[in-house]
This record gives sequence, C-alpha cells and structure tokens, in this order.
Amino acid sequence: MENSICEITLGDESLINEFFDCMSGESKALFNRRDYNRRGVLKFLAKGDATRKYWIIKKDGKMAGYVFFLDWNTSIPELGVAVRDDLQGKGLGRKLLEFAISQAKEQGKGGIQLTTHVANLRAQTLYENMGFICKGLCKNGTELFYLLSFR
Ligand SMILES: CC(C)(COP(=O)(O)OP(=O)(O)OC[C@H]1O[C@@H](n2cnc3c(N)ncnc32)[C@H](O)[C@@H]1OP(=O)(O)O)[C@@H](O)C(=O)NCCC(=O)NCCS
Repeated sequence: MENSICEITLGDESLINEFFDCMSGESKALFNRRDYNRRGVLKFLAKGDATRKYWIIKKDGKMAGYVFFLDWNTSIPELGVAVRDDLQGKGLGRKLLEFAISQAKEQGKGGIQLTTHVANLRAQTLYENMGFICKGLCKNGTELFYLLSFR
C-alpha cells in the first residue's frame, strides 16, 4: 500500500534496484559503498535470512525508503535506514525509525545499535533526535557508534 510501511517481499526487486540505481554519489558513499546494502537486501529476498528484517515504504509506485535490522536474533540488533535522495528532509527517515523502534520494542529487544559515517550529519541529527546516544568512534576511525537502550 502507498505510504505505509510493509515488509519487503518477493516482487520488490525491481523497485529496489531502481532505488539504488538513482542514488546520488553522496548517499552511495555514506550508505552503499561497494553496493553492500543493495546486495544484502537482494540476497535476503532470494534466500531468506531469519537474522534479518526489512521494511519498505513506497510512494508514487517507487521505493521511497527502507529500514532494516541485522542480527535481529540478538537482543540489540543493528539498524540501517535510507531514504530516496529527492525525498530526504521530509520526515520519512523519522517515520521509518519510529516504526523500527516500535517493532524492536514489541519484540522485547533491549535496544538498537548502529554505526554512521562521521560526515553523515543528517543521519546523526536524526538518530540523536530519536534518543540514540553516540558512544564514540569505531576502531576504523571513520564511523560513530550509536546506541538506543530501552532499559
Ligand atoms: C539519513 C536519512 C535516512 C535521514 O532521512 P530523512 O528522511 O532525510 O530524515 P528526516 O527528514 O526525517 O530528518 C532527519 C533530521 O535531520 C535534520 N536534517 C536535515 N537535513 C540536515 C542536514 N543537512 N544536516 C543536519 N541535519 C539535517 C532534519 O531537520 C531532521 O531533524 P528534525 O526531526 O529535528 O527536524 C537520509 O538522509 C538518507 O537516506 N541518507 C542517505 C543514506 C544514509 O546516509 N543512511 C544512513 C546511513 S547510517
């Protein structure tokens, strides 16, 4: 359904490919280096993976964004999120995060973790507005580690 957040399903592959094909260089550098996240979601659709969850939001017949968890089988799964370039800054990121947080709480998780590039100020603003705390720089020196604790 348009504008509602649904689990990704078989048949969404072409929407997913179009979403990644039109991603700006900046978003690719911040989110999809070496096509890692595109390959992750397509592999999930092809083979399934109980340790992951993916939800998509559509607008005008296209993929507007998605949110996902890696290590969903653990008590503090890792979150990823991306919004289509021309739809960024309109509250979709917040909507996807609110949804993901409610899913994690419903499933009795202890919190959510994530990393983001030090240059990704928009993402950092979003995460901090949603209550995530920056715990410091990762060993690689380019990513910040964020934690949202439910306890
Ligand atoms: C990060 C991302 C998911 C945020 O989604 P979005 O739909 O643009 O976010 P929202 O519109 O909900 O706004 C997020 C917040 O950032 C703020 N913001 C917007 N542009 C900003 C900028 N250039 N710098 C800092 N903050 C900014 C907004 O004011 C908003 O804060 P508010 O809720 O207090 O108003 C999106 O920009 C994106 O997909 N980027 C590329 C992929 C990516 O980087 N993913 C995250 C990898 S860790």
